[in-house]
Amino acid sequence: MAFDIDMIKKVYEDMTERVDKAREVVGKPLTLSEKILYSHLWDGNPNTAFVRGKDYVNFAPDRIALQDATAQMALLQFMQAGKPKVAVPTTVHCDHLIQAKQGAVPDLKRANETSSEVFDFLASVSNKYGIGFWKPGAGIIHQVVLENYAFPGGMMIGTDSHTVNAGGLGMVAIGVGGADAVDVMAGMAWELKFPKLIGVKLTGSLNGWTSAKDVILKVAGILTVKGGTGAIVEYFGEGAKNLSCTGKGTICNMGAEIGATTSTFGYDDSMERYLRATDRSDIADEANKIREYLTGDDEVYASPETYFDQVIEINLDTLRPHLNGPFTPDLATPVGELGPKAKANGWPLKVDWGLIGSCTNSSYEDLTRAASIAKQAVDKKIKPKSDFGINPGSEQIRFTAERDGVLKIFEDLDATIFTNACGPCIGQWDRSDRKGDEKNTIVHSFNRNFSKRADGNPNTHAFVGSPEMVAAIAISGRLDFDPMNDTLLNEDGEEIKLDEPHGLELPPLGFDVKESGYVEPLEDGSNINITVSPTSERLQLLTPFTPLGNNITGAKLLIKAFGKCTTDHISMAGPWLRFRGHLDNISNNMLIGAVNAFGKKTNFIKNQLTGEYGGVPDVARAYKAAGVKTIVVGDHNYGEGSSREHAAMEPRHLGVAAVLVKSFARIHETNLKKQGMLGLTFDKESDYDLIQEDDTINFLDLDAFAPDKQLTLEFVHADGSKDVIKTNHTYNQAQIDWYNEGSALNLIKKENKA
Ligand code: F3S
Repeated sequence: MAFDIDMIKKVYEDMTERVDKAREVVGKPLTLSEKILYSHLWDGNPNTAFVRGKDYVNFAPDRIALQDATAQMALLQFMQAGKPKVAVPTTVHCDHLIQAKQGAVPDLKRANETSSEVFDFLASVSNKYGIGFWKPGAGIIHQVVLENYAFPGGMMIGTDSHTVNAGGLGMVAIGVGGADAVDVMAGMAWELKFPKLIGVKLTGSLNGWTSAKDVILKVAGILTVKGGTGAIVEYFGEGAKNLSCTGKGTICNMGAEIGATTSTFGYDDSMERYLRATDRSDIADEANKIREYLTGDDEVYASPETYFDQVIEINLDTLRPHLNGPFTPDLATPVGELGPKAKANGWPLKVDWGLIGSCTNSSYEDLTRAASIAKQAVDKKIKPKSDFGINPGSEQIRFTAERDGVLKIFEDLDATIFTNACGPCIGQWDRSDRKGDEKNTIVHSFNRNFSKRADGNPNTHAFVGSPEMVAAIAISGRLDFDPMNDTLLNEDGEEIKLDEPHGLELPPLGFDVKESGYVEPLEDGSNINITVSPTSERLQLLTPFTPLGNNITGAKLLIKAFGKCTTDHISMAGPWLRFRGHLDNISNNMLIGAVNAFGKKTNFIKNQLTGEYGGVPDVARAYKAAGVKTIVVGDHNYGEGSSREHAAMEPRHLGVAAVLVKSFARIHETNLKKQGMLGLTFDKESDYDLIQEDDTINFLDLDAFAPDKQLTLEFVHADGSKDVIKTNHTYNQAQIDWYNEGSALNLIKKENKA
């Protein structure tokens, strides 16, 4: 069910050949990251040394994982490709759409009622196209992937930024947008800018209260939320070998919080132990045969400054436990120093909740270490001052932890055991203790702590720490509590000091599970009909986009966006998440966050057909109804932020033919191309100032659309005067074919039929 050992054998066979070849081509020893990248080239054997941070390279990932929120649009698009099955092993995981409120059983029941339509859709599409389906309650995508699918030396992509978690088992695993996943599912290559490499050398070993989480909390403090951008972070050294496999997963998981492309560790004994414990001894046996290929070359780790773009060294012997926050995961403070900082900044010292779990920290080891603290509260009669919430990472972990009495310890503290799902980590948390915008503090072992992330309250101050530190802080109820030095008063009035945490890397009796929640797809799903109710609010089957053609005249300016225009401005998240699978409904958020250069207001633009002002989606719909194409004008780095394809699909759906900007964020530019639109940049940036509110646009030479050839646009102003503007584009011939066919998927479908 979980993996295909023959596929992995083939990956390893290719790897030995390709790594040897890559070493020749590059002309020097290789890091682990390079070994994995060069052995997953779309074109097979390496014959070029790529320039890090510059060259765009086509890769062939081994696997794909989708979560329920992002899978909806990805699968709706995949259905457009006309393929009978996915080209690469793929799984869907239902974990984001389950709200944490009363506890696992009632919460899961409610989610199955409120989102049954979405879950049923995902289940039937998975069954039809050969995709493994993990039901709601089966677990959090990244934990399930680590337990079942990740393997040393592999490459995977996933439609969730914390896909990077699988680096804990020696993968290069990268979070992508749905459009990228669809390409790979449909048998196309996946393109990535060859990453830069940051080496983190770990020496010593963890001790006392310090945990793997503290390594990444420290790294986040050093590199900040942007420091890893465009880079793979590769951990190595004796300290790395001393960490458990799931601890490595935690570190890689939060690599997303420093903006890293991904993070990874070389294959070692901890990974072997984890593979064997999760019933994958055959992978461990294969990995052992090519051990030296599954880690960086000795020379690299001996003088890392020569081979990495940046090197950081952390001594685990002296590393202190940290709490990072509030509102940003890179604000790192050693535990014990938080009191004065909190007082100076007005952060509430009283802690209301301690939350343990999420994809970051929900392993068996995490739960047992936190339980070792919780048990002391019970045994030493210390009544916890905060509420406890626990999200086990998977049903396998929950079942095993229950069998071994670990969950009982938390229950003895009146903890709420939530579903094996994201819950509060993605704002799916109906907090019973507080309503409104009250200022308050929580501590959690998750990864993100941005404003509103956990409970929607902008004044919830969330601090990130290890599960055991979260347990200690929650028991004390104070943010400035330092369990290494402070004492607590128990019910008998005695001063009690908590002992250091201890845990079990892996369950001594082995993992067990009764119902994993996995559904194997049919061998042949061709007879399955996918039906979506035409009256559904949340799902809508896609209809192929019609080509925009090579003669666009009389188009109207929809909006000239002023200043920053990210994918959040173009397609907001928050409450709109609900409509991720319904293109028409979610299009009602199109560009509502963008500032109109005329009048400097958001969601307030002129409808040139009526002279009246209205919201962007409404005006766009009016143009569309009148058969008038539109264009969007923007500033620098238009479309930065997430890779969400909705930011390109919504304008396409509402009749935008072209987006003309000073510069693009590259992923968004590619997404526009995939949807068969024109993504253009001003040849002269100052031409942005020529665009007026009542402009009508004619494309003068679109019939000669070709690579490396400028396109000329005529802007006719309200007074009849004109400006003719030269624009640049980066379309190659294949991408021009996408445009001509109406979208990349239309082209795939056509090629399928041919
Ligand atoms: Fe994302 Fe779920 Fe993890 S919300 S951060 S995958 S727990």
